[in-house]
Amino acid sequence: MLIRIKKASDVAASEITPQAIYLYRRRFIAASLATMGSSALGGIDAARAASSPFIVSPDLTVQSVDTYEKLGPQDEVTIPFTVWSYNNFAEFGPEKTDPLANIGNFKPRPWTIAVDGLCAKPGTLDLDAFLKPHAFETRIYRLRCTETWSIVVPWVGISLADVVKRFEPLGSAKFVRFETVMRPEEMPAQKTSALKWPYVEALRLDEALNPLAVLAAGMYGQVLPGQNGAPIRVVAPWKYGFKGAKSIVRITFTEDRPVTSWNLRIPKEYGFMANVNPAVDHPRWSQATERRLGEFRRRPTLMFNGYGEEVAHMYAGMDLIKDF
Ligand code: MTE
Repeated sequence: MLIRIKKASDVAASEITPQAIYLYRRRFIAASLATMGSSALGGIDAARAASSPFIVSPDLTVQSVDTYEKLGPQDEVTIPFTVWSYNNFAEFGPEKTDPLANIGNFKPRPWTIAVDGLCAKPGTLDLDAFLKPHAFETRIYRLRCTETWSIVVPWVGISLADVVKRFEPLGSAKFVRFETVMRPEEMPAQKTSALKWPYVEALRLDEALNPLAVLAAGMYGQVLPGQNGAPIRVVAPWKYGFKGAKSIVRITFTEDRPVTSWNLRIPKEYGFMANVNPAVDHPRWSQATERRLGEFRRRPTLMFNGYGEEVAHMYAGMDLIKDF
């Protein structure tokens, strides 16, 4: 059972993109009233009451704890059109509409994940077996793209730290590398040289162990759509969106800093660290403000995307302007 303490940087359900919120709010109020009405329901029981079944696959249904606010049962919640149709997934093309337009041949099942490199318990697992031992929860997170748009998404996923610990990284492991599937027949832009394929991203080991980092298998209570990174993607909400590799098939513990796709392609524009930082402009635009999809006015971008309380300590003593 996961019980999280509410922090100032937590996002309210009312901020979820876009305003499919009415349903969420109504359910949350209903759930709170039901909980308050029963004096037998205290702390842990209240959290247990706020869990919903999440169908990972035909063979695996788990209980996902809503650690923030109650979300509706998955069959009553829809993924908003914006989040579903406005995507970055370079394997399907460069335009925002390309992933949805070209997703037709992509098969997110069956799926295996290999965990290898500097760890004591490497292995290759079917996705259900990979996910099954872990506790699922809903995490409402801001996502800030380096292109200055942002969204707020209720992800359904598992703690990346728990996954890292399960495979027992060796003392020499310093980084965790994530590799996206390589299937040019299903992902047409992998036949082009837009990026060096497969798409690779990485975190430092301490970042991967930060409690905020998640491997998401769902969003809005539903299994991830292909264009959003089915069947499993990385979510590190204090970093620019490109750090969150979609459709991953390999997790590797390394001593040396991995070569990552965007950093390799345009190092001046895509730093390895990629912490959201309004003070470090992209060479071609300011990062000081952002446009939340569905909103008219731009809003200020927050240092570490508003998650400084949870992550700033990991960068103490670092020059975040030089090491962007
Ligand atoms: N993962 C892969 N494999 N390929 C990509 O092109 N784009 C990244 C990230 N993960 C990308 C990826 C970028 S730039 C962003 S902003 C987010 O995915 C976008 O996620 P979304 O389309 O679900 O909003």
